[in-house]
Amino acid sequence: MKKPENQIIVILGGRGDLAVRKIIPALFALFRQNLMPERFAVIGTGRNLITDDAYRLEVIGTVKKESEGSPADATARFASFFHYVALDPSAPEDYAALSEALERLRAGFRIGGNTLFYLSVPPALYDDITNNLAIRGLNMEGDGWKRIIIEKPFGYDYESAVSLNRLLLRHWDESQLYRIDHYLGKETVQNILVTRFSNGIFEPLWNRNYVHHVEITSSESLGVEKRGSYYEGTGALRDMIQNHLLHLVGFIAMEPPSSIDSTSIRNELVKVFESLRPVKPEEVGKMTIRGQYTGAHVRGEWLDGYRDEEGVDRASMTETFAALKFSIDNWRWGGVPFYIRTGKRLPTRVTEAVIHFKPTPHYLFSGDSSCDGCNQLIIRIQPDEGILLKFGMKIPGAGFKVRNVNMDFHYSDLADGRIPEAYERLIFDCMNGDSTLYTRSDAVLAAWKFLDPVLQAWKNDSTIPVFGYPAGTWGPENADDLIEEPELTWRYPCKNLADDGIYCEL
Ligand code: BG6
Repeated sequence: MKKPENQIIVILGGRGDLAVRKIIPALFALFRQNLMPERFAVIGTGRNLITDDAYRLEVIGTVKKESEGSPADATARFASFFHYVALDPSAPEDYAALSEALERLRAGFRIGGNTLFYLSVPPALYDDITNNLAIRGLNMEGDGWKRIIIEKPFGYDYESAVSLNRLLLRHWDESQLYRIDHYLGKETVQNILVTRFSNGIFEPLWNRNYVHHVEITSSESLGVEKRGSYYEGTGALRDMIQNHLLHLVGFIAMEPPSSIDSTSIRNELVKVFESLRPVKPEEVGKMTIRGQYTGAHVRGEWLDGYRDEEGVDRASMTETFAALKFSIDNWRWGGVPFYIRTGKRLPTRVTEAVIHFKPTPHYLFSGDSSCDGCNQLIIRIQPDEGILLKFGMKIPGAGFKVRNVNMDFHYSDLADGRIPEAYERLIFDCMNGDSTLYTRSDAVLAAWKFLDPVLQAWKNDSTIPVFGYPAGTWGPENADDLIEEPELTWRYPCKNLADDGIYCEL
């Protein structure tokens, strides 16, 4: 694989939670695979004054777990590329020190002007940081490219996303902005495109003529943990559906791009988002279900309800579960219902998409002729990453009894089964200037445009209930009512891809 050009990576918020959990470990993984540039440096910034050496010790501590199996000095060598600058993101004068550090490192290590700024900070600081970097001319590309990675949420609704874009575009060009959605960095999400477009057998069936409905689930067994105050103002729809799950819809529903490049793929994604049929305000109560977990004993342990979590309002109406039914108004998908659900404190952590194919036109064999026994293709994003096809086979013996059987592929069966972390792939792509797996502003806006009516109705229409659901269950029972045909329900996935149902390992 081609190494990225020489560059300096600046992590604003270089001691924060995201840097520690994701960014620095991802850089270390690239370093171990010899995928970092020939010459590079990393500058971490933070509000407190600490020395480079103290910061390097923190970096060593951060990658300690990942370093097992590496040569003994690998972590120390890795940490030696790190430098620290104390900086208050909102104080323009503090950027002088950053600018000086950049000059010094560029000259000292002959790195050149390429610079990647990772904004690992709360979105409220995006405006100040992008502005302050520009005041020092750190956005200017004369001596090398300058790129910015920003984290979700990109706005709070359509209007705020428009103003965030406007702010960013005051000093930066769209081509310099890398909006990260870590779901696009997941191997298994990218594999949706490979499954669809590298196999001749799926694509002819991938449309309204053969697909009955599409179902996407992203469940988490954890609650909101320490993020109660962030989550209070966000909720499941904004936190998971607006970005991660709509991207899954986009990859499942898009037309074949003309090539695997950033413009073609992102054009196709936007076309899907723009074809999502807006939910009419009067239909929101029928097409969506929201819920909030309540306290319960789960496997012998008491789990607090959402309203009892730290940082959460005792009378909160924020949804920790959201389910949505919608349509895509285009020739491929006209008339095919799409269902999405996500929630915290559900029985297990699973993300998967299920393509339910239509039943045969005339059912010859004994058994159920509804879509209950239909062929299903299950694309498992995590865990037990893989793909499963369910189809009917004859039960040996007299007559023609049919049973559904599984054909499955698990990534873990591959000899080299390591699945790279999403951040590893995404940061590597940005270092190489490849924005294919980053979100373009038109896609962000189209996604908000689709969800705004739901957010509005949930906020203003008190007749739309927030159903309570006990921690450890699959959310409000009413979520089953979203599915049009009364005999159908969601698939209740287990930890293992090939299992489903009520009794399984979670
Ligand atoms: C984040 C959300 O974007 O994605 C979290 O803010 C959520 O609330 C997380 O837990 C889920 O990511 P993953 O990769 O664990 O599915």
